Amino acid sequence: MKNIIISILIPSIWIFLVSPVYTQTEISSNPELDKKVEAFLKDSRGEWRDMNVPASDGKLLYDLIIKNNYTKALEIGTSTGHSGIWIAWALSKTGGKLITIDISESRHKAALKNFREAGLSEYIDARLADAHELVPELDGPFDFVFSDADKGWYKNYFIAVYPKLVSGGCFTAHNVSNRMSGIKEFLDYVESLPDMKTTIDRSSSSGVSISYKD
Ligand SMILES: C[S@@+](CC[C@H](N)C(=O)[O-])C[C@H]1O[C@@H](n2cnc3c(N)ncnc32)[C@H](O)[C@@H]1O
Repeated sequence: MKNIIISILIPSIWIFLVSPVYTQTEISSNPELDKKVEAFLKDSRGEWRDMNVPASDGKLLYDLIIKNNYTKALEIGTSTGHSGIWIAWALSKTGGKLITIDISESRHKAALKNFREAGLSEYIDARLADAHELVPELDGPFDFVFSDADKGWYKNYFIAVYPKLVSGGCFTAHNVSNRMSGIKEFLDYVESLPDMKTTIDRSSSSGVSISYKD
């Protein structure tokens, strides 16, 4: 009898310990927060007039974070916080945190209010700063980056973040549909790097580049 119990118990304990379900960080569920964010996004639909991403691009960022279980996010270009809300909502489920930067005081303040109203402030460290100076100073590491500030600086933002981007991490950039000045230099550069794999999601007219680091 003792041998039978041991032969069942030991493999069961081993399976429990090595199972991916228990070794991966779990996606946590908070139905109350979900309701609050959903209600906020529903009420504010049609109110995003500060160069904000469309909801479909917000959902794209949300899905990328959940799919890859990212936890250390950076956004360059907060504006009034629409993309930040989608990113932080995903991070509320992976146990992560977002640093987001904007240079405009009025938009930064509006974003703080929106983050509070959506119930997501605790997942966001919103900085009022010139990203040209702050991004190179940030320690990292990051596993998810969303670049959505001045397009002429995209390549410089990428160069500053690249060493702090973990393997398996991803750098995304908005408005890449047209290879206009700044965007072209950024895309040519990131596509030239052998350890970065870039695709462009064109489901919205803006286009989002998604570059994974090997
Ligand atoms: C396209 S909007 C960002 C939209 C935002 N991601 C959203 O979907 O809600 C670009 C923002 O980048 C900010 N920006 C432009 N240059 C910047 C800089 N050098 N440093 C920080 N923010 C900058 C602008 O103030 C503006 O709010």
